[in-house]
Amino acid sequence: METVLVTGATGTVGSRVVNGLADCDVAVRAATRAPDDGQFRDGVGVAFDFEKPETWGAAFEGVDAMFLVRPPAITRVGDSILPAIDAAVRVGVERIVLLSVLGAEKNPLLPHRKIEKHLRATDVAWTFLRASFFMENLLKVHQREIAGAGEIVVPAGDGETSFVAAEDVATVATAALTEPGHARHAYDVTGPEALTYHDAARVLSDALGRPVTYEAPSLVRFARHSRRLGRDWPFLLVMAGLYTTARLGLAGRMSDDVERVLRRPPTTFQEWAERNAAAFDLGMSESADDSLNGDG
Ligand SMILES: NC(=O)c1ccc[n+]([C@@H]2O[C@H](COP(=O)([O-])OP(=O)(O)OC[C@H]3O[C@@H](n4cnc5c(N)ncnc54)[C@H](OP(=O)(O)O)[C@@H]3O)[C@@H](O)[C@H]2O)c1
Repeated sequence: METVLVTGATGTVGSRVVNGLADCDVAVRAATRAPDDGQFRDGVGVAFDFEKPETWGAAFEGVDAMFLVRPPAITRVGDSILPAIDAAVRVGVERIVLLSVLGAEKNPLLPHRKIEKHLRATDVAWTFLRASFFMENLLKVHQREIAGAGEIVVPAGDGETSFVAAEDVATVATAALTEPGHARHAYDVTGPEALTYHDAARVLSDALGRPVTYEAPSLVRFARHSRRLGRDWPFLLVMAGLYTTARLGLAGRMSDDVERVLRRPPTTFQEWAERNAAAFDLGMSESADDSLNGDG
């Protein structure tokens, strides 16, 4: 039986990959910096930190395939993630599926681009999942303002975003980790439609049964709002950069790669909103974790 190591196993996509792999004929190893937190069954969780090379040996031992997530906090991948890839390849990891970002091939500043380039230069069977903006960001980052004031406050103007459900990203990852035919493929993992935040607010209003508005706030208003919520400046700047990408019309590209891999259409924003409506109630906060991870 093959062994699959999932990095970012406690995160938005990795946790769903761990769940998806549970239905496959593989042994799953879930990498986390805190394996004693009881998140995984005995024998599944393994201590792993990209910034602590002493954790790599035990985590990589006997692994055939790896799901590779660049943690948002790691920007200097040359000091951590690239050497970890080399170590994994050295001990025999044959397949690496990377969670990348839509447009990574065109943006030399993105850490994902550096990781992609590095993987291409190895003998490993790589697959790149260039994911669009996760629908889950609205829950993880914006739940409080949507649940409270009934407003989406992001500086995305009237630009479109091809929102994708994290579950779809994870299902594509599970397929790429366990099925043949995905080696040396780069997939654009997007949703089935490109929506403005005006559209997203309308869909959320219907799903939640109460008004959700979007007024296309300026960067200044967004910054003031974010500071009031206690977001720090580095995080605020990352968000501003991301939503400016959408404002400039660079986040709406769509692809049929999800449908081609999964042989079913990707989740629509409406389906996702209806499924997650209860989670937008105040008190069910995922937003304490206030982390947005599409920062490239
Ligand atoms: N959000 C988006 O819309 C979007 C879109 C496209 C691509 N992306 C990309 O997706 C990636 C983030 O994925 P995600 O949202 O699934 O992750 P996430 O929910 O932010 O979780 C981050 C994960 O990284 C792990 N981690 C943190 N520091 C680590 C370290 N030093 N060594 C090893 N693991 C560490 C954490 O695990 P422990 O704390 O348990 O160790 C956690 O599981 C980023 O590269 C982002 O650019 C995001």
